[in-house]
Amino acid sequence: MTQYPSARSRRLRRTEALRRQVAETHLHPASFVLPLFVVPGRGVVNPIGAMPGHSQLSVDEIVPVVKEAVSAGVGGVILFGIPDSKDEVGSGAWDPKGPVPEAIRSIKDQISDVVIWADVCLCEYTSHGHCGVLAGDRVDNDRTLPLLAEASTVYAEAGADVIAPSDMMDGRVASIRSALDSSGHEELAICSYSAKYASAYYGPFREAAQSAPAFGDRRTHQMDPPNSREALSEVALDLAEGADMVMVKPAGPYLDVISAVRERVDVPVAAYQVSGEYSVIEAAAAQGWIDGERVMMESLTAIARAGAGVTLTYFATPAARVLAAG
Ligand code: PBG
Ligand code: ZN
Repeated sequence: MTQYPSARSRRLRRTEALRRQVAETHLHPASFVLPLFVVPGRGVVNPIGAMPGHSQLSVDEIVPVVKEAVSAGVGGVILFGIPDSKDEVGSGAWDPKGPVPEAIRSIKDQISDVVIWADVCLCEYTSHGHCGVLAGDRVDNDRTLPLLAEASTVYAEAGADVIAPSDMMDGRVASIRSALDSSGHEELAICSYSAKYASAYYGPFREAAQSAPAFGDRRTHQMDPPNSREALSEVALDLAEGADMVMVKPAGPYLDVISAVRERVDVPVAAYQVSGEYSVIEAAAAQGWIDGERVMMESLTAIARAGAGVTLTYFATPAARVLAAG
């Protein structure tokens, strides 16, 4: 290996054109997935305080937002539903007339070439805000599985392209896969939130989805932040149960996990840049403390560099526009 002064790493950094030519990582808007919060009603736009630029939207208001995203090049959307009323078991999650199935049908009807993901969890639909049914003050894993499977089937019937369970119950991928297969949806893909951590970065989402737990937290089912080898075991279990894609969430604070998962498996790896990651960037940018646009692009580049092939991000549309502008 040559050394300084014949070796000069700066030579390939001299001009923008040179830097662009030798870049190792490229962002593609087709790999972005935009999260959206669907509420019942018409003409509803409720801005989410901690997430400037994002609102809870009724189905009629969702469609133009999806059109905008798709025309900027964004490849997909993921839908979260907020029902009119909640109950102990979260039955709104499998209501075929609920906000998510209605939104799926409407988007499918009016927009072609967009991948529609349906998040599957009960916490937006349960009166207690937990991700499954309760047995005392514990989330009952096995009694929750058929309910997740039922919700998945309803989203499949409505026309979803990807079913994405985020509940972190053990065995949910297998139970969803078998419910989909036995209802004629054997070609429908599952992206499992395999390595989903019990993260404080979900704070703003819980306002957006009105899904904060009434008591306790999610640490008995979501992963513990100190662990990364355990993420590989979660991923292996989900693949064995039939997951087609796996996800790491949050993204930015868990780049090591994304990279370890990428090394280990050959299926697409998705990463979710969550609500709190968006909020901290937006808040600092609003203060003028950072350059919001540059930090947005740098954060997404880091996630891609770590190995994510698909990125769920609240920056999907503005980032796609930056990429289109070259
Ligand atoms: C529901 C769910 C959550 C997120 C996605 N699906 C919240 C949670 O687990 O409390 C978080 C997404 C975000 O913060 O942007 N299980
Ligand atoms: Zn949940």
